[in-house]
Amino acid sequence: MKKTICFLLLLMGCAISFAQSSPSNGMQIFIDSLLQKMTLEEKVGQMNQYNGFWEVTGPVPNEGNAKLKYEHLKKGMVGAVLNVKGTANVRKLQEIVVKESRLGIPLLFGFDVIHGYKTITPIPLAEAASWDLEAIEKSARIAAIEASAVGINWTFAPMVDITRDARWGRVMEGAGEDPYLGAKIGVARVKGFQGQDLSSSNTIAASVKHFAGYGFAEAGRDYNTVDVGTSTLYNIILPPFKATVDNDVKTVMNSFNTLNGIPATGNKFLQRDILKGKWNFKGFVVSDWGSGAELITHGFAKDLKEVAILSANAGSDMDMESYAYVTHLKEMVEAGKVDIAVVNDAVRRILQVKYELGLFADPYRYCDAQREKDLLYHPNHLAAALDIAKKSIVLLKNIKTTGQGNPLLPLNKNQKNIAVIGALANDKNSPLGSWRVGSDDNSAVSFLEGFKKYNSNFVYAKGADLVNGPTDFIHEVKINETDKSGFAQAIALAKKSSVVIMVLGEHGFQSGEGRSRSKLDLPGVQEALLEEIYKVNKNIVLVLMNGRPLAITWAQEHIPAILEAWQLGTQTGDAIAQVLFGDYNPSAKLPMTFPRSVGQEPLYYNHYSTGRPNTNDVVFWSHYSDESNEPLYPFGYGLSYTNFEYTDLKINDSDPSAIRVSVQVKNTGKIAGEEVVQLYLHDRVASVVRPVKELKGFKKILLHSGESTLVTFTLTNNELGFYNNEGVFVVESGDFDVMVGTNSIQGLSAVFTKK
Ligand code: NOJ
Repeated sequence: MKKTICFLLLLMGCAISFAQSSPSNGMQIFIDSLLQKMTLEEKVGQMNQYNGFWEVTGPVPNEGNAKLKYEHLKKGMVGAVLNVKGTANVRKLQEIVVKESRLGIPLLFGFDVIHGYKTITPIPLAEAASWDLEAIEKSARIAAIEASAVGINWTFAPMVDITRDARWGRVMEGAGEDPYLGAKIGVARVKGFQGQDLSSSNTIAASVKHFAGYGFAEAGRDYNTVDVGTSTLYNIILPPFKATVDNDVKTVMNSFNTLNGIPATGNKFLQRDILKGKWNFKGFVVSDWGSGAELITHGFAKDLKEVAILSANAGSDMDMESYAYVTHLKEMVEAGKVDIAVVNDAVRRILQVKYELGLFADPYRYCDAQREKDLLYHPNHLAAALDIAKKSIVLLKNIKTTGQGNPLLPLNKNQKNIAVIGALANDKNSPLGSWRVGSDDNSAVSFLEGFKKYNSNFVYAKGADLVNGPTDFIHEVKINETDKSGFAQAIALAKKSSVVIMVLGEHGFQSGEGRSRSKLDLPGVQEALLEEIYKVNKNIVLVLMNGRPLAITWAQEHIPAILEAWQLGTQTGDAIAQVLFGDYNPSAKLPMTFPRSVGQEPLYYNHYSTGRPNTNDVVFWSHYSDESNEPLYPFGYGLSYTNFEYTDLKINDSDPSAIRVSVQVKNTGKIAGEEVVQLYLHDRVASVVRPVKELKGFKKILLHSGESTLVTFTLTNNELGFYNNEGVFVVESGDFDVMVGTNSIQGLSAVFTKK
């Protein structure tokens, strides 16, 4: 018993002291001395984050509190604000705390810089389709440059939640369904935001979110319950968070959801045991907006006082807009409900990030009005946005419409007689996507604008409106479900044209926070429009703009060419035109499975075998009676205007700690192209069953026509092992299937034995 208590005390000691390091470190000396000067009220103040009155990205819990917030700023009772932008505004607030509060500790300025600030890059799901880590890092870099130029020093990105259910609106904000790809992309984004030197004026602190499990909301309904087993938690949900923590991400945002009955914000196991314990995370944890107060609605805390106790003790260091810490934490410490060591640890972590950002050296580091003037929409940023936009476009289908000739794409630059149909073709707002709070409305290059630069031999008809009325970030989008009055004109144009480009999909605000869908079809009357046009002209190129996988099964069966163009941001029209006319050969691959019908969701490639996976002539196997188990398009899928041939899969397993797998890849087509060579593993027998396949390596290569290259992967224990149900990473010997190919279902396979 005595032993157990000692051990527990030791553990508690570890949990709250690891943010300190050697006293020789200048930062620690500075923070130690500052902490000594701080009153308890000032310490608690550092743990408080307020929305900055100008913009709202969530329900306002206490409207009319602007005056109180202002008083708190002056008393040093605010550690960070969010949604304040513009160097003049930032300077104004920073001056209040620096000049008027007793200790003058500078504020952090947080903002949702999710895919660009003014120059908007593709939605993160689209960027993930590029599988191009360098381009993704660059995209985050330009976002950081622009955000820092308007005074922001902290972004609430990247979202590294793994997402398997396309109904969930926030799939647009992540990297899709795979933890291996998700981890690599999460790290690339963190590097892009934080750069090499966080104290430089063009780098900002990143925040990975939402810790943890938010992507597993039941039935894809946002904010819904999350109940997952340990294997999924350790092997699927946590790896991207761990990878970014290992790569020095400065902050982590917790989450609205419960995880197996415990709300994430009050979850000690997640925040203390795993994040700050096992992973030794040195930064701080910020709550999600009001997620502290939501412990009450969850039925976990009875009032705001308990919220303060439970979330501080659980390791949630900063309270965003719940007023729990600023109102009650001091009293709870004085009442002995929260140890002062918990507060000291949280404050130390927060001050450390401020120090690393260089704010103690210069609180106005991010308030340079000249940078603000020079850097927004900088030509270099527009060029980078165009580059990642074209790399994000996935060619889903491209066949000949008659027995002869070429596939429909790429289009001829001199093609005559084109009809462009669809309201989204003429939209400069929707292609910016969701979660782009810093952007200017209607600032995207529309499809039509981009197309016109290549070819003006076209006529345009919208066919039907997609939405009824104005759209914005906080209200439900009203979809046109009935009005087909524009069909006749579109049909007439299609009849007379040699080729029809149909630009259809979701509105940019149909995905994002609070925007789950129960259907995955083309919204409104668009499917009907597509089918009507098809009756008069079969030469259709379908350009999709959407924020999630869609079940476009009829289109896949009938339409000869389909291009997945997501929401590509500022450079949308130019990027799509480059691909349509063949100036860029598409190379992207789906980071998320597309289902055949919504009832298959959640549908993902790295599922378990089940005990009954195989077709049977009786019904007793794992299947649907009315739908196949197969996806419409599998994970990793995407075509090119050229072809790649895979041969010569070879395995060298003489060194069990570095198994080499190689394959010869040849461009057998007529033009140069990039291919994402993907490696999947299947551990045949294990102490915890393993998925039927798991991505464990990929390489993006460029091959000229006729060129061939050897692609090699090295598999170490990192790729061969897995987390058991105790959360321990284990590597077991035995047989593994390896597949190397062009997507998650097509490739060359072999077997090796891990000794
Ligand atoms: C709520 C969202 O869940 C989170 O991702 C975002 O960063 C905050 N609001 C702040 O806007």
